[in-house]
Amino acid sequence: MPVKNNDVRIKAENVDFYYGTHKAIKNISIDFYNDKVTAFIGPSGCGKSTFIRLLNRMNDLIANAKACGSIYLDGENILSPKADVVKIRRKIGMVFQKPNPFPKSIWQNISYGLEIQGEKDKKKIEAVVEDSLRKAALWNEVKDRLRDNALKLSGGQQQRLCIARCLAVDPEVILFDEPCASLDPISTNKIEDLILELKKNYTIAIVTHNMQQAARVSDFTAFMYLGELIEFGVTSQIFTVPKEKKTEEYLSGKFG
Ligand SMILES: Nc1ncnc2c1ncn2[C@@H]1O[C@H](COP(=O)(O)OP(=O)(O)OP(=O)(O)O)[C@@H](O)[C@H]1O
Ligand SMILES: [Mg+2]
Repeated sequence: MPVKNNDVRIKAENVDFYYGTHKAIKNISIDFYNDKVTAFIGPSGCGKSTFIRLLNRMNDLIANAKACGSIYLDGENILSPKADVVKIRRKIGMVFQKPNPFPKSIWQNISYGLEIQGEKDKKKIEAVVEDSLRKAALWNEVKDRLRDNALKLSGGQQQRLCIARCLAVDPEVILFDEPCASLDPISTNKIEDLILELKKNYTIAIVTHNMQQAARVSDFTAFMYLGELIEFGVTSQIFTVPKEKKTEEYLSGKFG
């Protein structure tokens, strides 16, 4: 798949990350393309979550952790101490393995982000709530119960609500860390369809242990092993003719 250099949305260069003295990310350079899905695969503990969490500064709260290198978004280095973390997290939303709605109403889960941004226009909030729920393919299931507590929703619905909450603040990039790990096959299908729909407008990174899922939803695949990016390429190439022996061994189930 030819991608022009100006289609690069995020550019990570020579990124290292340490938990204390443990180097969990080793000199990773990778580009994320506009309106494309990049999947991260690799055995447990290889650094997938650590790496994608660096993209929106989610590792900041970890004591004694240190990041080196650069990650550019819109010309700004996300890793710089001067970077505006609130702005970064608005531009780069994240959806986690376990759905984590607030213990509030469906409506409040979506409106919250707008309200903390200072939005007071009720009509605008109403429109964003509906639009976000529609984009997350949840509107039809919840439109008559928007005041219900979000925790009453099923796991799959809660995960789509978390996606809607993320969309409500109008991000540019969405990070998914094993978003289907706690979901049944039907909910998983819905999330996968949703990711394929969302990539028309958003740059997406997804960590997954499900190889079929990576093959189905991603345009590019990054294979990580022991903190290193072993291979990056177009998904169909990685899955059919990987260049690195380690990738081939992982995909054929020799370890992992
Ligand atoms: N908060 C932490 N403090 C110290 N070490 C950590 C912390 N979080 C992760 N690590 C270590 O960093 C390495 C990478 O972990 P990470 O969670 O990024 O792996 P992963 O590829 O996401 O694994 P999994 O597939 O199991 O989710 C591992 O060796 C892990 O033990
Ligand atoms: Mg992980």
